[in-house]
Amino acid sequence: MHVDKYERFWIYAVVAVLGVFFAALLVAAFGLGIRLPQPAAILNPLELDQTQFSEPGVYQVGDNEYEVYIVAQMWAFVPNEIHVPAGAKVTFNVASRDVTHGFYLEDHNINMEIVPGQIARATTIVNEAGVYHFICHEYCGRGHHIMHAQMIVEDEQTANTTNPSEES
Ligand code: CUA
Repeated sequence: MHVDKYERFWIYAVVAVLGVFFAALLVAAFGLGIRLPQPAAILNPLELDQTQFSEPGVYQVGDNEYEVYIVAQMWAFVPNEIHVPAGAKVTFNVASRDVTHGFYLEDHNINMEIVPGQIARATTIVNEAGVYHFICHEYCGRGHHIMHAQMIVEDEQTANTTNPSEES
C-alpha cells in the first residue's frame, strides 16, 4: 500500500505525540505522585454518632498539630466556630450527616466536596492570626446560603486576652 510521505509524517507525528502524553501521565502518576483526590475513609452517614464525629471539634495531636472533626449537615457546620493557634498544622476531617455539601476554607487552599459516606481530609498550616470563614459551596437545599462557620486563628496575645465580644 502506498502512503504519501506527508501522510506518513503525520502518522508518525501523531503516534509520537500520544507517546509523549502517555509518558507524561506515567511520570505524573508514579514519579510525582499526583493522583485524583480520594476519600480518606468510608463511613455510614447514619452512624456518625458511633465515630469520632460524635464529638466534633479540635483535638491536639502533636506539638503544634491539630486534628479537626467537623460534621456538615443541613444547614450548618458543627461546630460552627473553631479556635487554633497561629503556626499550627491543622488537618480537617469533614463528614456529612445527610446530603452532599461543600467545604471551602478562606485563604487556606482547602476546597472539598463533602459526600455522604466519605470522610474528606485535608491539611494546612495556619500562619496568620485572624478570622477565616468556611462555607458550603455545594447547593444543599433552601438553607444552603446560611451554611457557613469560622476558624479563628489566635496568636499568643489574642489567646491570652480572649474577648468574646470580638466574635460575631
Ligand atoms: Cu451545605 Cu450548601
